[in-house]
Amino acid sequence: MNKKITLLPGDGIGPEIVGEAVKVLDRIAEKFLHKFEYTTVDIGGCSIDKYGVPITDEGMALCKSADSVLLGAVGGPKWDNCPPSIRPEKALLGVRKELGLFANLRPTKLFPQLASASPLKESVVGGGIDLLIVRELTGGVYFGPRRTEEVNGELVATDVMPYSEHEIMRIGRVAFETAMKRSRRLASVDKANVLDTSRLWRKTMHRLSEEYPEVEYTDILVDNTAMQLIKNPSQFDVLVTENMFGDILSDEASMLTGSIGMMPSASLSSGTLGMYEPIHGSAPDIAGMNIANPIGTILSAAMMLRYSFGMSREADCIESAADSVLSDGYRTGDIMQEGCKKVLCSEMGDLIAARL
Ligand code: IPM
Ligand code: MG
Repeated sequence: MNKKITLLPGDGIGPEIVGEAVKVLDRIAEKFLHKFEYTTVDIGGCSIDKYGVPITDEGMALCKSADSVLLGAVGGPKWDNCPPSIRPEKALLGVRKELGLFANLRPTKLFPQLASASPLKESVVGGGIDLLIVRELTGGVYFGPRRTEEVNGELVATDVMPYSEHEIMRIGRVAFETAMKRSRRLASVDKANVLDTSRLWRKTMHRLSEEYPEVEYTDILVDNTAMQLIKNPSQFDVLVTENMFGDILSDEASMLTGSIGMMPSASLSSGTLGMYEPIHGSAPDIAGMNIANPIGTILSAAMMLRYSFGMSREADCIESAADSVLSDGYRTGDIMQEGCKKVLCSEMGDLIAARL
């Protein structure tokens, strides 16, 4: 197959980790006789520095016209004081919206080899963690009306969290369909004891659940979910939730796996176009040092093959190569354990590529 991939390395460690994922993709292309053509586009702070905007119109067009997009990370302290309209994150939200990437899949899987790297006790994570957060990505408070105004001599800021039935319905459907392919358990996370958006969310999910009688469906409040994820994470399989709850819970869930550096994600549209990125940020403190963990990005590339290109054999191949490198005791600094071999970012990429 011939596929066009737009690369958005971004800021901080972004270029390093995307470089390692490309190494792995190239090896896959060679082995399975595919052709991947890459176009690199600046996004985030590096684009602000060059063009004064976090992504140019041409850059956005190159994302839209690609078969899929692979992103590193955006942002850093250098651009923290940029006006909100041109902040690095604005480009990321813009791409999500423009490409219609409403469904964000964030798998949280603990590699058993890393059980002792998790800050949680082995008695909590030892039984294995394999859950999937389905996060709504183009609605809610991230995209609602906002303003800062002066009222009675002080500033008042407002962010609105709107959700319409069709937005809830389409993410709900992705979640139910995903649950059908896994262990058929779905928990919908909301704050229906307080928020109207959550009450509509719950009502809509219940309607949908009637279409999926095989799925064991439960409602759970977001605060309780935050607690249960730490107390008894293995009770969960698929979790579905709105944009901001999903942002927060997915960072929390990542810690179950030992390091946020391990977690991939897929942002999907109603077609095959998707954007794939690790869930961690740009880690400016270690940028350029070749010590970042590229596994989250490499596993994101695997998700790209699986979801956008329908190449599940190729994706399996990447996942088992990463697994086998970990089994042999190779670790980047963030997941380093006693008795293991510490490797650089580029060495981790080489090791995984070599095993394909
Ligand atoms: C994420 C990130 C983004 C988000 C930021 C960078 C805008 O935290 O993908 O989880 O909040 O969605
Ligand atoms: Mg986040």
